[in-house]
Amino acid sequence: MLRAGMIRKVAAGIYTYLPLGLRVIRKVEQIVRDEMNRTGAQELLMPMVQPSELWLESGRWGKYGKELLRFKDRGEREFCLGPTHEELITDLVRAEVKSYRHLPQILYQIQTKFRDEIRPRFGLMRGREFLMKDAYSFDRDEESARISYDKMGRAYHRIFERCGLEFKPVEAESGVIGGSFSQEFMVLAETGEDRLVACHSCDYAANVEKVKEGSSCPRGHGLLTTHRGIEVGHIFMLGTKYSEAMKAVIQDQNGKEVCPVMGCYGIGVSRTAAAAIEQNHDKKGIIWPLPLAPYQVQVIPVNNQSERVMITSELIYGTLSNLGMEVLIDDRSERPGVKFNDADLIGIPYQIIIGEKNMAEGLVELKERRNGKIKKVTTDEVIDLVKKLVLPPSKPTES
Ligand SMILES: Nc1ncnc2c1ncn2[C@@H]1O[C@H](COP(=O)(O)OP(=O)(O)O)[C@@H](O)[C@H]1O
Ligand SMILES: [Mg+2]
Ligand SMILES: [Zn+2]
Repeated sequence: MLRAGMIRKVAAGIYTYLPLGLRVIRKVEQIVRDEMNRTGAQELLMPMVQPSELWLESGRWGKYGKELLRFKDRGEREFCLGPTHEELITDLVRAEVKSYRHLPQILYQIQTKFRDEIRPRFGLMRGREFLMKDAYSFDRDEESARISYDKMGRAYHRIFERCGLEFKPVEAESGVIGGSFSQEFMVLAETGEDRLVACHSCDYAANVEKVKEGSSCPRGHGLLTTHRGIEVGHIFMLGTKYSEAMKAVIQDQNGKEVCPVMGCYGIGVSRTAAAAIEQNHDKKGIIWPLPLAPYQVQVIPVNNQSERVMITSELIYGTLSNLGMEVLIDDRSERPGVKFNDADLIGIPYQIIIGEKNMAEGLVELKERRNGKIKKVTTDEVIDLVKKLVLPPSKPTES
């Protein structure tokens, strides 16, 4: 990401998203937002700075270690930078929601988190400051909470599918309730820090923190195999841990006071962008899955001095842009080799290469970044081809 001009390091685990990198982040965000909204969850935005009082109430001020960055304001009041928002959301809901009639509620935000990680590494993969989508569900009872949890699980499937990533939901150690009430969504990649075991004949999979390597599939399909993955999402059934500690109560059907049952659901937005690269690259650089690519098409005029090349390049650039595609044109006066290498490095899925020799025959080249295949076609054909490859069919069918 550094080489490709996607990010710049500011301090350990703290990065600036450059224009190209930010476009990828926004793509992930949009998919996440879309699928969250489809479940009926509502977006809000909580502050990053959180007062210690709420953390004292939940009991985590003393328990959360050095990852919690604490500081004082000018009046000596203690605060922290939010690594997660259970306290704030519980405080909000206890003030606003009084009756079971107002539940279920799922609220989410896409926001900057800070965790003073002991070993920040691999760029956006394990940052100290990073972007997370965090959602919180509130239900009147366990049964209803399970429905919210399953709804989030299905949304996570759709999110990572729409990102174009190969992933696996795995059973995870929940630490709170146990059982199968915590699942991690792993993007499969050789470089992943997490290890998981998976069955080859069914969809059973678990984090090795929960199920030992060399175990058998509980559904009787023989031994589980080990894979490496990157945790991009995590869904948790929390129960009443926070609502009880912070005395959030609602009236149930019988007028009795009960604590709402909570769930929390995280997606590492910036980590997902990095994980996409770990899964999709070659020696030359990034190979973006189309849904996350900063641009969909890159137009490369081989020689800027040629008027014919520039006119055709601008024409193709303009036509594709007007059709609603996201197009980048490399109009720098660089040598062809530099342009080709940079194009492969930043990994935009389709390249249209316009050179003088081909132009003489009325042709341009369409190169697919993923397999390097090049097609020589006319300028009209290239528009049609790219349109089919990039634009969704006019009536998208939802699964
Ligand atoms: N240091 C980090 N840098 C980038 N993303 C992170 C980081 N820590 C967590 N995430 C992302 O946020 C999601 C939710 O985090 P969570 O499960 O609460 O943290 P953890 O797995 O570290 O206990 C994770 O699945 C991951 O995608
Ligand atoms: Mg986790
Ligand atoms: Zn199995």
